[in-house]
Amino acid sequence: MIKDRMQLELNKQLNREHYSAILYLSMASYAEQAGYKGAARWLKVQYHEEQYHAMRFYEYILSRNGRLEFMDIPKPDQTFKSLLDVYQKTLIHEEEVTEYVNRLMDIAVEEKDHATQIFLQWYITEQVEEEDNVNDILTRIKLLNGDNQGLLVLDKELGLRQLTIPTDFTNGLPKV
Ligand code: FEO
Repeated sequence: MIKDRMQLELNKQLNREHYSAILYLSMASYAEQAGYKGAARWLKVQYHEEQYHAMRFYEYILSRNGRLEFMDIPKPDQTFKSLLDVYQKTLIHEEEVTEYVNRLMDIAVEEKDHATQIFLQWYITEQVEEEDNVNDILTRIKLLNGDNQGLLVLDKELGLRQLTIPTDFTNGLPKV
């Protein structure tokens, strides 16, 4: 059984992961229309990753005999101006997610919830990777300083991103 406070905070993060998913889908739609097909693919992979993050919370809460609570999901930003803008906003967003995950871990420690601490460890590691990847892309976009040729080369590279997480959760959460 999971404590009410921990359950509420885990549910909030599950819903935030859904928000992350639609934020990336919103960014992907901008990228498609702006001609950045590779970035659109990268962002759609990210969309699936966020859904996977949400499903991990879903399965974990249920595995602790907890209750799922679905909340209102804010409308995502739809006002992107450039690829630079997209990845700047991505970094800001992922830094916020990292803060939320850290706060969740603080609560798990306060509540002496050891199982949740182990569960959250995966997200802490994941956030380091997410911030690192986005930082690399952002640095390269800044170096290009609006050079369209260079941006198209980078876009092609972003389009090589492969989905490495499951997207079919009908039989539960497959191991990865
Ligand atoms: Fe669910 Fe991008 O962190």
